Amino acid sequence: MGSGSNLLVSDHGLKAAVVRLSSAGFRKVRFMNGSSLEAGSGVALARLISAAKERQLSGLEFLSGIPGTLGGALAMNAGAAGECIGGLVNTATVMDFNGAVSVLNKKRLRFAYRRSNLSRYIILSATLGLKRKSKLEITRRINRRLDLRRRNQDLSHPSAGCIFKNPGTQAAGRLIDLCGLKGTRRGDAAVSGKHANFIINLGRAKASDVLKLMAAIKRAVKAGSGVNLESEIRIWRD
Ligand code: EPU
Repeated sequence: MGSGSNLLVSDHGLKAAVVRLSSAGFRKVRFMNGSSLEAGSGVALARLISAAKERQLSGLEFLSGIPGTLGGALAMNAGAAGECIGGLVNTATVMDFNGAVSVLNKKRLRFAYRRSNLSRYIILSATLGLKRKSKLEITRRINRRLDLRRRNQDLSHPSAGCIFKNPGTQAAGRLIDLCGLKGTRRGDAAVSGKHANFIINLGRAKASDVLKLMAAIKRAVKAGSGVNLESEIRIWRD
C-alpha cells in the first residue's frame, strides 16, 4: 500500500501481509543532473512537490492536495484535470513477488487512466523528468490546484477521494448528481453534498456502509443514464 488514501479495507481485516514502505530509506529524494530527480516510493507527494519547488523544478504541481505517496501515485497513475504522473516517469525500480529487483525504463512502463503495469510489483523508487521554472511560478501553480480542490471537493470530512472513475468523456460526479443522490447515506457513509463522486465519513462509517452506498449509486446511475460506473478506489477484502 502507499498511504491508503485510495483504499477501502474490509471491516474484517485481511488474511494477508501488507507491505508499507515508510522507513527513511524509502523516503529519500535525490536530485540528478539537469532537471531529473530520483525518489523513494514512500515519499509523500506534498514533500516531493515542495522539494522540487526548492530546486525550481516544475511538473508535479497538479498532484497538490493528493494525500498519497509517490509509490501509490505511480501504481494508480494518479492525476487531476487531464495530467497524470505516468507522463513524468523515466524509470521505475521495482521488486517482484519473488524478491527480484529490476529497473524498468520508459519502454517497459504502461500507464493508462488510473492504471499502470507497476501495480503488479512492489515499487521501490522512480526517476522523474521535470522542467525548470521559477519558484514563484511553481507556487502559483500549486495554489491554483489547492484552490480548485477547496472549491470543488469536501475536504472537511475524511474520504478516499473520487470513488468512481470518470466513464469515457463523462464525469461520474455529474452522473451521480443528476440522480439526486447528494446526501444519500448508508450508516455514516454519505454522498458528499459538494461533489457527488466523493463518499464522506460522517463519523463511524464502516467499509460495509461504503460498499452498500457504492452499490446503490451504481444501480441508480445505471437506471438513470445506462452507464456502468467502475470503482476508482481499490477494495481489499479476502
Ligand atoms: N459535477 C457535478 N456535480 C458534482 C460534481 C461534479 O455536476 O457533484 C460536474 C462538475 O461541474 C464538472 C464535472 O462534473 O463539470 C467534473 O467535475 P470536476 O471538475 O470536479 O472533476 P472530476 O472529473 O469529478 C477529476 C478527478 C479528480 C480530480 C479532479 C480535479 C476522476 C474520477 N476525478 O474529478 O480526482 O481531483 O478531476 O482535477 O478522474 C481522484 O482521483 O481521487 C480525484 C478526486
